[in-house]
This record gives sequence, C-alpha cells and structure tokens, in this order.
Amino acid sequence: MEGTCLLCLLSLTSLLCCTSDSAGLTVSPSSSQLFEGASVSLSCEEDDSSAGWRLRRNTTRETRTQCGAGWGRSAGSSCNISYIVPWDSGVYWCESREGATSNSISITVTGGAVILQSPVLPVMEGHDVTLHCKTKTPPSNLPAAFYKDGSLITETTGHMTIHHVDKSDEGLYSCDIRGHGESPRSWITVTERTPTTAPPPYSTFLQLVFFLIRYLVVFSPYFISTVLMVSLYRQRPTAPSTQAEQRLAEDSDDIVAVSTEHHF
Ligand SMILES: *[C@@H]1O[C@H](CO)[C@@H](O)[C@H](O)[C@H]1NC(C)=O
Ligand SMILES: *[C@@H]1O[C@H](CO)[C@@H](O)[C@H](O)[C@H]1NC(C)=O
Repeated sequence: MEGTCLLCLLSLTSLLCCTSDSAGLTVSPSSSQLFEGASVSLSCEEDDSSAGWRLRRNTTRETRTQCGAGWGRSAGSSCNISYIVPWDSGVYWCESREGATSNSISITVTGGAVILQSPVLPVMEGHDVTLHCKTKTPPSNLPAAFYKDGSLITETTGHMTIHHVDKSDEGLYSCDIRGHGESPRSWITVTERTPTTAPPPYSTFLQLVFFLIRYLVVFSPYFISTVLMVSLYRQRPTAPSTQAEQRLAEDSDDIVAVSTEHHF
C-alpha cells in the first residue's frame, strides 16, 4: 500500500516539476502569404507532448477556434489545411491544456494573382531577409515593385534582399507585378540581437540555488508524507489482507480491542 502511494506521489511530483510550458509554432510552406487553394501544415514544436498543445486561430469571423473544429485536420499537435481560402487569413498559435501559448503567426490568403513571400517568424537584427514576389502561375521571376509602408523601395526581378536588417526595417511590406496585380501587405518584425557576451559567473551559482530551492519545494511534500505515512503505519495494527488473516483477525478482535484500549 505504502509503495503504490509513494509511486503516485512520485509521479505527481515529476509531473509538477517537469511539465514544460513552451512550444514554437512552425508553418510549412514558410510564407506569411499564400494563394487560395494551397495546402498548409502547421505544427507545434513542443518540449513535452503530454502538455496537449493544440492549434488555435483568430480570424475575422471567429476567435480562438481549435483545429478540427470547423477548420483544418488535427493530428496530435499538428494541423493541416488542405485547401486554404481567404477567410482562413488570421493569427495562428499553439495553446496547451493549461492555457500556455506559443508564438503566433499571421497568415494572409489571397484570391488574387500575386503574393509576397516574407518570413513568418521575426527576423533577427543583422540577418539578411529575402522577399519574393510571386504570381500564381509561372513564370514567377517577372519584374516586381516592392513597397514598404506604401512607398516604393525598389523595382527588380522577382525578389529582393535586405542586408543586415535593423529595427528601422520593420514595417508593412507588399509588392506588385505589372499586368498581374498587387499582393496583400504583411508585417515584418525585427527582433533585437541577443547579447553574445557570456553570462556573468554568479548566474550559474544563482541557477544552482534556484535549482536547489525548486528541488526542496517539490520534494519536501514527498518526504513529509513519507514520514507521516510511516508513523501512521507504526501506530495502526496491520490491516488483514487475506481471508484467512481476516478470520484470524475476527477471532482476535477482542484482544485487539483490549490492546487498543490500553493505548488510550
Ligand atoms: C484572439 O482574439 C482574442 C479575442 O479578441 C484576443 O484576446 C487574443 O489576444 C487573440 N489572440 C491572438 C494571438 O491574437
Ligand atoms: C499533413 O501534411 C503533411 C505534409 O503535407 C503530411 O506529412 C501529414 O501526414 C499530414 N497530416 C495530416 C493529419 O493530414
């Protein structure tokens, strides 16, 4: 009896201490804009599959709807949309059973003839970004005009590269191809470069302290309950388990009653 309770306590504590609450959303093909009719696969790259990460989205028509509930086909923490349509445009994210959320991705679906392929994830400061302007039907390398916040940046072949992006490159981008049309607009986010300097040495010490505190907080209920159970076990007469023992126990009930009376 004690063994099984220790086991359930142990699994409870491991659940408490090790349940991860982070996931990253990825989308394939990796483009913030898609043509109507494309098939898309979204997946939650999670640390712990038992957290129950599911795809959710906000569109102009609906809020927080889960994959499988009227849109997409759910397979675990992934979701496929086999034929995407303009009203699938919206914000997608992963959400765990506990309500933790991943990064969100904005997807725009157009019924038009031109899309701008821009990164779905924020771009790190200092990196290069290539934007593609594509028509639904080939050839896809037609001369295109690229715009940022409504102003023309450049007219070039089907793609352009922004070298060493910085915060000022953030904005709403679009493109157009003469004779075919204009793409929707997509926001490009630039994230600040994380400092590359090594963390100060005391932080590892702090990490150790935090680890020890967490360890104590998580495992002290386990130790306390073990001690409690052992002491309870000692006070109580052992419970009869087999029928023979039970009969024996019934026979000796009076003796037990007497001996327990002696205790109080
Ligand atoms: C989805 O919509 C709800 C309600 O408008 C809002 O609270 C929530 O922040 C939205 N989620 C995202 C990721 O935009
Ligand atoms: C989703 O799409 C991917 C790639 O297209 C495929 O490998 C996977 O089996 C699909 N999953 C479902 C549930 O349809």
